[in-house]
Amino acid sequence: MSHRKVAIVTGALGGIGSITCRELVKNDYLVIAVCRVRTDEEMAEWRDKYDLTTRDVKSFFMDVTDNQACAVGLKTIFQEFGHVDVLINNVGITRDSQFKKMNFEQWNQVINTNLNSLFNMTQPIFQAMCEQGFGRIINISSVNGLKGQFGQTNYSAAKAGMIGFTKALAYEGAGKGVTVNVVAPGYTRTPMVAAMKPELLENITSQIPIKRLAEPSEVAAAIIYLASTEASYITGETLSINGGQYMS
Ligand code: CAA
Repeated sequence: MSHRKVAIVTGALGGIGSITCRELVKNDYLVIAVCRVRTDEEMAEWRDKYDLTTRDVKSFFMDVTDNQACAVGLKTIFQEFGHVDVLINNVGITRDSQFKKMNFEQWNQVINTNLNSLFNMTQPIFQAMCEQGFGRIINISSVNGLKGQFGQTNYSAAKAGMIGFTKALAYEGAGKGVTVNVVAPGYTRTPMVAAMKPELLENITSQIPIKRLAEPSEVAAAIIYLASTEASYITGETLSINGGQYMS
């Protein structure tokens, strides 16, 4: 049983996930870092890089696309820590391709990882949050879920789907102390964005009014705020952090 607030972060080892874990620890949370299987060495390297200790961050290897694996994994987490206060559905992948060339595998991988994971991770936690009278569910979408993006029909569909899920679940959590919100980052300085062809990224950056990428810490700051007790009157909302690239 943890006396600290417990926050689960999926995709914990990614660009936004890592900094979010670090900021949650700074704000006194016990963090459960959910990621795919890694070696002890890889986990130790990650913790060193972000100045994290095993006292503050517990790692759980879970396939977020596997409904049963999530049910079993989350049961273990409840048994071990007693409660979950914050769930950050941050995991996300890209399989960019023009739609005419996209195969079903590329479609499915993105929908399973980015959207179906919301069902798998949230369902076992949501009811417990309602019963304890407090919960924060924060879903990390994208500017491209709001505006669409050439080559991302799969990704934009999943990221837009997260917003619909959020608004619908917000009704069910309202009045029970459980808020459900979206943070929609723009192009952020992460390995995912760094993997883009430089000329494509330069072209996109030149169209962003603030003329630079977002920093992961700027996204994490919004997540920390939405997780706080002060944010208890914000639910069903989408908070864009995109340098003015898309104003909705
Ligand atoms: N709008 C209209 N047409 C476009 C276009 C655009 N934005 N981008 C490319 N095209 C056109 C090109 O002009 C070209 O036309 P012609 O054949 O007439 O010359 C045609 O489409 C082919 O372009 P590409 O050579 O780029 O096509 P490709 O098949 O080699 O690559 C792609 C397609 C993989 C989708 C590539 O364009 C790409 O990587 N685009 C970037 C997608 C993107 O922004 N991904 C974000 C990743 S980061 C992320 O997702 C994080 C987040 O949340 C923001």
